[in-house]
Amino acid sequence: MKHLMPELPYAMDALAPVMSEETLAFHHGKHLRTYIDNLNKLIAGTLYEDMELEEIVCKATGSVYNNAAQAWNHEFFFDSFTSTPQPVSARLAALLGKSFGAFADFQRQLTEAAVGHFGSGWAWLVEDGAGGLTVCTTQNADCPLTTGLRPILTFDVWEHAYYIDYRNRRADYVNGLWNIIDWAKVEQRIG
Ligand SMILES: [Fe+2]
Repeated sequence: MKHLMPELPYAMDALAPVMSEETLAFHHGKHLRTYIDNLNKLIAGTLYEDMELEEIVCKATGSVYNNAAQAWNHEFFFDSFTSTPQPVSARLAALLGKSFGAFADFQRQLTEAAVGHFGSGWAWLVEDGAGGLTVCTTQNADCPLTTGLRPILTFDVWEHAYYIDYRNRRADYVNGLWNIIDWAKVEQRIG
């Protein structure tokens, strides 16, 4: 199965100034494309050739895993934003409140995880097998699917995600992301 570039659910200039058209042109148009192109080349003629992306992420190692996980992580990340953000619903706020105490505590934990993560990686809101919501980070390409966690929301903290718009100011980038989250989509992901 040839893995295809996902369409963005918004226009390339729709998330500015939080995420500029230039950032999306590089981050989606070049970085994600490279991961998908590499994956397609690496899996040709292997046991991974006909697997869904999620299955490859959970079963592969080495370069196949790195490119598959980066493809999955980026598709999930880009599918988390909207140009017309709406407030968090009462149901989602209650679910987050149950695990974190209050929405503000969840927001603080994910922000601190994203800003404080050392080097390249991802900060996540995940659901564990018992339905609890927690914040974690992963290094480089690593994806929580491999440890049985269900991703609910992620912030990409690789420098390529923010260097065009924010240079080294990762905290400003992370704080900006809160303004473009598609909360309805986040809520749908909770089981
Ligand atoms: Fe990225």
